[in-house]
Amino acid sequence: MSPDPISRGTARHAVWDDVCDAYHLVDRTDLGVVEEAVPSGAQGRPHQHARSREFFYVLAGEATIALGPQEVRVEEGSGVEVPAGTWHQVRNEGEDELRLLVVSSPRVADSGPRQSPRPFARDRSGLVVGSHLRRTRRGDLKDVLSFEQEPETQPFLGQGGREWHERALADPDMEHWVLVDRLDRVVAFGILAGLFRPDIVEIRRMVVAPEGRGQGLGRLLLRQLLEQALASSEVSRVWLDVSADNTGARSLYRSMGFQERPTPAEVTLLEDGVYMEWSGQAPTLAR
Ligand SMILES: CC(C)(COP(=O)(O)OP(=O)(O)OC[C@H]1O[C@@H](n2cnc3c(N)ncnc32)[C@H](O)[C@@H]1OP(=O)(O)O)[C@@H](O)C(=O)NCCC(=O)NCCS
Repeated sequence: MSPDPISRGTARHAVWDDVCDAYHLVDRTDLGVVEEAVPSGAQGRPHQHARSREFFYVLAGEATIALGPQEVRVEEGSGVEVPAGTWHQVRNEGEDELRLLVVSSPRVADSGPRQSPRPFARDRSGLVVGSHLRRTRRGDLKDVLSFEQEPETQPFLGQGGREWHERALADPDMEHWVLVDRLDRVVAFGILAGLFRPDIVEIRRMVVAPEGRGQGLGRLLLRQLLEQALASSEVSRVWLDVSADNTGARSLYRSMGFQERPTPAEVTLLEDGVYMEWSGQAPTLAR
């Protein structure tokens, strides 16, 4: 029996680094062949593989590949091999989409089946591309406070201020996160709370820099906070409290699978707060 041809349409699809489509054409432990689509301006994270060798072949566009201290420009129809143990990073500094064939042996594992029908960052702001979550440091609080204190934002938030955030940073029951762009500038923040409870986590607040709103950062932040909240295998529910008249935020939460539910007896909401809970499955994290 002859094998069925594999195409992007039939291959396992994943999203890498939140922006790149990856189609796993050959997906065996001894060999991986992945077709990747990297949008203009996007870049992977610098990394190395202890055992795997990789070959990056450019199908369309132009790749900039950092290999240890060197940088190579790889044009359409050519490729480079990356030996095991070499730090490398792929960037698309061109204006067109970059399409790559990435061959690895043994196969490089991706970060799991974070499947998405298509990455939501495409065609959105350059800010979304390359922005990622990291833990908040004390030096970030200046930005955090300026986002929070902005007059249009204040009515939607409960207590805040420097002392509140410093307590949150030190509280083992909470995780304080910032979303930073590729230059490590803070563009948004969010807090997870109630981490001592095994099954359910609260997103305590999330705020995008006022000048960055409406560009997809809120959605990226929420998705990454959800992924953090669900990182523990026991957690299956995530809840939050949102002001009834915060229509923008409520619409974002609904579009990401949160639903308005009756408030549990043990929960105290903001004065005009609405209880929303997410209890979907991982794929609904995608748009
Ligand atoms: C709510 C907030 C986090 C959204 O961030 P954002 O970066 O502007 O949101 P995004 O650009 O990712 O938009 C995602 C979705 O949110 C919804 N949305 C965002 N702003 C909206 C608005 N003003 N009106 C209606 N819907 C809106 C839309 O559904 C949008 O979907 P789309 O991508 O299909 O257009 C941001 O506006 C914010 O920081 N507000 C102040 C603080 C706050 O209210 N936090 C929530 C406390 S619970």
